Amino acid sequence: MNYEITKACENEKVEFKNPSTALYEVLGYEGMRKLMYEFYERIYESNIAHFFPQDRDEFEEVKKKNTKFFIQICGGPSIYDEEMKQKDLNEYMIDIHKNFSIYEKSRDEWLGTFREVLKELHVDEEIKNDFWQYLDKFSKLTVNRYLRESAYV
Ligand code: HEM
Repeated sequence: MNYEITKACENEKVEFKNPSTALYEVLGYEGMRKLMYEFYERIYESNIAHFFPQDRDEFEEVKKKNTKFFIQICGGPSIYDEEMKQKDLNEYMIDIHKNFSIYEKSRDEWLGTFREVLKELHVDEEIKNDFWQYLDKFSKLTVNRYLRESAYV
């Protein structure tokens, strides 16, 4: 499996599918928590760390919320619902990211970091591949800034 990062294009209609329940079924709550905590520990040290709170307690909250979201999106219990104020889960998630200027480069770093963690995870390739497809596609919807070619080139 190559964990390809496909390019995000402005105004593209992104087709994505929520992950199958398989990852949650094999990892369970604790396994999902470990996966997400490991991912966010690496984000804390990454080139996109500045997007996130540097305060450790605040960063813990980000990890907790993300863990809840990923458990729910993978078909686990609806433990993230309380955050969403009745909105559709995916729409809500896109809206949250509008508060930040996210370019393709930041998405690449985010996905590249997730790829490292997934490669180390001892789970069937097919299950990881399905999850990766979700990450690759859905993350395009978090990109909200595109570089324009210079008029002088
Ligand atoms: C599949 C793609 C992604 C998913 C599912 C996702 C999911 C999430 C979730 C669940 C939260 C917590 C929301 C809350 O406060 O309840 C969050 C926050 C955030 N995400 Fe993402 N994310 C994705 C991609 C990205 C990318 C590419 C970036 C690039 C920089 C990013 C940056 C952020 C930032 C800055 C926050 C806010 C942290 C804070 O609360 O201060 N995310 N994301």
